[in-house]
Amino acid sequence: MKMQAVAQQAPGGVETMELVERDRPQAVPGKLLVRVMAAGVNRADLMQREGRYAPPPGASPLMGLEVAGVVEEVAGESNFQPGDAVFGLLEGGGYAEYALMDEALAIVKPDPLSWVEAASLPEAWMTAWFNLAEKAGVRAGDNVLVHAGASGVGVAAIQVAGLLGAQAFASAGSADKLAFCRELGAAQVFNYRQAPAFGELVKSWGGADAVLDPVGASYLAENLQALNPDGRLVNIGLMGGLKAELDFGRLLMKRISVIGSTLRPQPLETKARLAAALRERILPGILDGRLRTVVDCSFPWSQVQDAHQYIADSRNLGKVVLTMFPLQAG
Ligand SMILES: NC(=O)c1ccc[n+]([C@@H]2O[C@H](COP(=O)([O-])OP(=O)(O)OC[C@H]3O[C@@H](n4cnc5c(N)ncnc54)[C@H](OP(=O)(O)O)[C@@H]3O)[C@@H](O)[C@H]2O)c1
Repeated sequence: MKMQAVAQQAPGGVETMELVERDRPQAVPGKLLVRVMAAGVNRADLMQREGRYAPPPGASPLMGLEVAGVVEEVAGESNFQPGDAVFGLLEGGGYAEYALMDEALAIVKPDPLSWVEAASLPEAWMTAWFNLAEKAGVRAGDNVLVHAGASGVGVAAIQVAGLLGAQAFASAGSADKLAFCRELGAAQVFNYRQAPAFGELVKSWGGADAVLDPVGASYLAENLQALNPDGRLVNIGLMGGLKAELDFGRLLMKRISVIGSTLRPQPLETKARLAAALRERILPGILDGRLRTVVDCSFPWSQVQDAHQYIADSRNLGKVVLTMFPLQAG
């Protein structure tokens, strides 16, 4: 059977993406076939589109790391059945009418959550939880510096810091993004364009016990400056470059840990643990209003080029989501 999917003939700009016909995947034991209603768009998708972030071996070559939709088909023993509404993280393949989702990662979609909201959750919140709760070991009373505070991951990370009893500081590139970070609970914020040497500023607020850093090279020196003794720097992205000089003196004297972390290639057990954290620790807060899903906007998937351009232009506060339902109607 066939389906519609967003694909490219070759890596490149937004214009390389088009809706085309592809073979529809089939459910296999352990993997549900999901009819996609909405798919989250991530900066990683832009990198994959440009040919700078290859899918892991065995994953769908299509873009799309998270979806919400309806179980279409199961194979073998399963806790799910056709018709169940679910959302979850994928290895890839979310920009399509149908996608395969590991059953261990599928979360039942509560009725009050829209398809768009549900599709916006897995990548950002699982990344925030993985890196703050597990990698950085954030504890009550810690100060956590979240860079790119208004990004999809950032808006989740500010709130996860609060959930763990920590105080969040956030950076972003515009006044409206900074105000938004404050609304989400950040105690202190700064514009990195106006305060590129932010280390002393963060120290004046009590320093950072952990930093969630999607920027990399251009922030290394200031991150080390901002960190308190025994601080943890978790790098999750390279938006500010790959290579920088490391001051080992500062690293040693402050006993700082520098940790690199990527979610996508993690083993299924790790992702299943993070999906359980999303279901049990985060979803209840979203449903009772203590935590906020932050969807900036959604685009019909026929406008996937505009959705990618919107993110490339850094216009989003929180998540951008594609909706598939006009094609699904009937
Ligand atoms: N390692 C992992 O497991 C993992 C998982 C998910 C995401 N990530 C990474 O986390 C980051 C956020 O992802 P996302 O999908 O949430 O992103 P997003 O929503 O697209 O937001 C990214 C934001 O980062 C800011 N930014 C862009 N270039 C920058 C630079 N050179 N220096 C400082 N800030 C910059 C922009 O906001 P301003 O207007 O504030 O500049 C932009 O809106 C990305 O780097 C992504 O690759 C990593």
